[in-house]
Amino acid sequence: MGGTGRAVRLNRVKDWSPSTWQAMPALQQPEWPDTAGLDRALKQVASYPPLIFAGEARALRASLAQVAAGNAFLLQAGDCAESFEEFSAVNIREKLRVILQMAVVLTYSLGVPVVKVGRIAGQFAKPRSSPFETIGDLELPSFRGHIVNAAAPTEAARIPDPDRLVQAYHQAASTLNLLRAFTKGGFADLGRVHAWTQEFVASSPEGQQYEKLAEEIERALRFMRACGVDIEATHNLHEVDVYTSHEALLLGFEEALTRQDTLTGGWYDCSAHMLWIGERTRQVDGAHVEFLRGVGNPIGCKVGPSMEGADLLELCEALNPTREPGRLTLITRMGADRIEAGLRPLLAAVRDAGHPVVWVCDPMHGNTITSQSGRKTRDFEAICAEIDGFVRAHHAEGTWPGGIHIELTGDNVTECTGGTDKILDSQLDDRYETVCDPRLNGRQSLDLAFHVAEMFRSSGLV
Ligand code: PEP
Ligand code: CO
Repeated sequence: MGGTGRAVRLNRVKDWSPSTWQAMPALQQPEWPDTAGLDRALKQVASYPPLIFAGEARALRASLAQVAAGNAFLLQAGDCAESFEEFSAVNIREKLRVILQMAVVLTYSLGVPVVKVGRIAGQFAKPRSSPFETIGDLELPSFRGHIVNAAAPTEAARIPDPDRLVQAYHQAASTLNLLRAFTKGGFADLGRVHAWTQEFVASSPEGQQYEKLAEEIERALRFMRACGVDIEATHNLHEVDVYTSHEALLLGFEEALTRQDTLTGGWYDCSAHMLWIGERTRQVDGAHVEFLRGVGNPIGCKVGPSMEGADLLELCEALNPTREPGRLTLITRMGADRIEAGLRPLLAAVRDAGHPVVWVCDPMHGNTITSQSGRKTRDFEAICAEIDGFVRAHHAEGTWPGGIHIELTGDNVTECTGGTDKILDSQLDDRYETVCDPRLNGRQSLDLAFHVAEMFRSSGLV
């Protein structure tokens, strides 16, 4: 028997197939009234080409192994929920621009490679705390993301519609297509570092700080050229890798895009490079953990304030029994006032058990509050404070604060309060456009990147 046969046996996960999750309790799945339609839609998606290639997922895993080892930083960012309505080239480009800007600030300031992963090209499905929500005096089934139902406040809009699964596939495919074009076709060229600034950002303090940094980068490039370095031939300066990720919530959809890699025989969920398990579906004996334990992609798991060390170790064992660096990213989201004390015992437990995880701070989901006007919001100060607590906890335990996980948009929205333009509660109605959680706008996002850089510097981490 040749080497391929051996590889096939080695890369299969024990007692697992893409459908073994179906025997386990699966929380947060919509009740699709049209079961024949659901079946048809899933078969259709299963017949379509994969969105990503297994080799790309392995490349991301290798980059994340560098983060786990403390030699790189992960920036994971994008929408809370992508919208079927706000779907345009401009929207994708603006989001990419702010991610590239943040990445350049972080790379330059931290002096390590920044692994860029978007919450994009598939981040549609939303878990909900309650199956019903009250709007005015109507009690309606909850909005679950455009891959399931529509947000309009009517009974009809909230009925899960299986055709949306097919539409989500197509939107993810064309978003990814444009991302690949932008990142490989010149838009992300480091020589264009000035061109990523949006007009509404340029005149702000953080915009000016960014301009200064961009000038320094240009000077460094000129210096390298003058020294005889062939800048044109150095492809890392002209292209970037931006990977895709989303919460693997709708397991039927994820199963339909799970394919066997012909090179290794392993299974990969080809709906995105990286998939994560949400805070509400991380039960170790649940369907989401069962599904993701068997795919070869790098995976993430949210870690909220109720997580105990023993449960976390069980999860690490289930999701990464062979302890491969880069395979598992733990995304903490505890809230600014709980993070430092809550995280330290978890860091110690995972470190002492020898699990080589990537630790990432999601400073958004533990800091969501309802404003006086009734809008869901997050305050910029609380977001910074959670990151600070995260960094301090790592510093104390001797572990590497590997990255941040952010909800943002490139646009000039008013969804989170605070920041240098001091968005007030009373201004939230001006441009509140998210279909789910409140996002940082372009200025606040850039400001946050500078804040992280400063926090790392002042902690002596870089
Ligand atoms: C999210 O990332 O949008 C989300 C719902 O997060 P969590 O599972 O941490 O609540
Ligand atoms: Co969210």
